[in-house]
Order: sequence, then C-alpha cells, then structure tokens
Amino acid sequence: MPRLVDPLLLPGSVASIQQPLLEIDDRFSIRPWAIDDAPTIVVAYSDPEIQQWHRRSLDDFEAQQMVRIWRGAWQGEADACWAIENRLDGLAVGYIALHRIDLENGAAQVAYWVAPHARSAGVASKATLALSEWALGPLGLHRLELLHSVHNHASCHVAANAGFAIEGTLKGALEHPDGWHDMHLHARLTSKPFRSPIS
Ligand SMILES: CC(C)(COP(=O)(O)OP(=O)(O)OC[C@H]1O[C@@H](n2cnc3c(N)ncnc32)[C@H](O)[C@@H]1OP(=O)(O)O)[C@@H](O)C(=O)NCCC(=O)NCCS
Repeated sequence: MPRLVDPLLLPGSVASIQQPLLEIDDRFSIRPWAIDDAPTIVVAYSDPEIQQWHRRSLDDFEAQQMVRIWRGAWQGEADACWAIENRLDGLAVGYIALHRIDLENGAAQVAYWVAPHARSAGVASKATLALSEWALGPLGLHRLELLHSVHNHASCHVAANAGFAIEGTLKGALEHPDGWHDMHLHARLTSKPFRSPIS
C-alpha cells in the first residue's frame, strides 16, 4: 500500500548533525551535558520541587549514569538533552530536553528544570523559547508539546512565556510522589509565530 503522507523528517535527521549550542541571552546558553556536571545534578535533585515534579532523587553514581544517558541520547534520536549553562562560570543551572522525538510526525515534548538558586530570572522561559525556535526552525519539527501538573503554576507560566498555548487537561495522567495528577497539555506549532513577553 503506498503511503499517502511522507514522513516529515527521516531517520538520521538528528544523529547526522552535531548537537547545537544555543545562546539564550547574554548570560546563559544551552549545551550538551558533561560528566563534570554530575555534582551539580545531585545538588539540584536534592530540591524538593525537582523531586516532586521529576519524580525522583539521585545519588552521585546515578547522576553520572544519568549524564552518560543524556550525552548518548542524541545518537538514539528519541531524546535530546542539554544543560542550561551560566557562561560566567561554566556551571550548569538547569536541564532542558526534547523527549519522545517523533521524526516521522515532526513532534517532541519539551521538559526542563532550573536549580533553586537560578529561578525566577527568566532562565526556563528563555531556554524553552530558544530550544523551541531551533526545534521548530532549523531542525524542522512541526509540533512541540509541554506537559505539567495543574499544580505546577511556575511551569504553566514558563509554557505561556515560550508561546505554548494550552490545549486542555489530561485527567489523572501522571503519578507523582503524592499521587496521580491532572496534567495541562500545552503545544506550540510551526505555523504560529510568537513574540514572547520576556524576550
Ligand atoms: C518551573 C521552573 C523550571 C521555572 O524555572 P525559572 O527559571 O524560575 O522560570 P522563569 O523565571 O522563566 O519563569 C517562572 C515563571 O513562574 C512564575 N512563578 C514562579 N513561582 C511561581 C509560583 N509558586 N506560583 C505561580 N507562579 C510562579 C514566575 O513569576 C514566572 O512567571 P512570569 O514570567 O509570568 O512572571 C523551576 O521553578 C523548576 O525547576 N521547578 C521544579 C521542577 C519543575 O517544576 N520542572 C518542570 C516540570 S513540568
């Protein structure tokens, strides 16, 4: 049976290019993770909010394993993970990723966290904006989704700041340490130009 719709992107569309470094603003960039980032990740995952919304904690060994997984993910083309770096000292202050990359349908899910000391300065919003513009622009994806618990109000603001319109609420969609949460589904599409209030 002939296909009636061509795949948007072919296998190899991610793995055949170098994972980009993207500038967020004059202080922050997103870059691939390095093994030296592991201690920063352990500290970040000691934060109760990161534990709550990312549903785990990490010890030193697990953080190193996690960095190896994040670094290797690019070649697998299902996930792409970056550190948000403060260029003044080179230290990671956050995580941003494309998960569930679906090349055929041109879709992915954005996920992020920012360490407590770097919060409320626009870091997550600007990183999400920069990554989205790269993913929907040069990479060629068509649709990015962003899911967060309805109780995670900061994440809802980040989604709005980065141009992710709310599409609805998924009932009891993800189990957290305190039980099942309804999740807001946001999305941003290539066809919708967006001017962020924070850029
Ligand atoms: C959510 C998170 C990534 C935001 O990072 P950040 O760099 O502080 O985000 P920004 O500074 O870009 O934007 C934060 C927005 O949330 C708002 N905000 C912060 N805390 C809030 C709260 N408790 N309730 C409501 N809004 C809040 C800020 O006012 C800002 O919105 P505005 O720009 O419209 O004023 C960070 O808080 C975090 O890592 N939390 C724990 C992990 C997590 O929630 N990950 C996301 C899972 S979906």
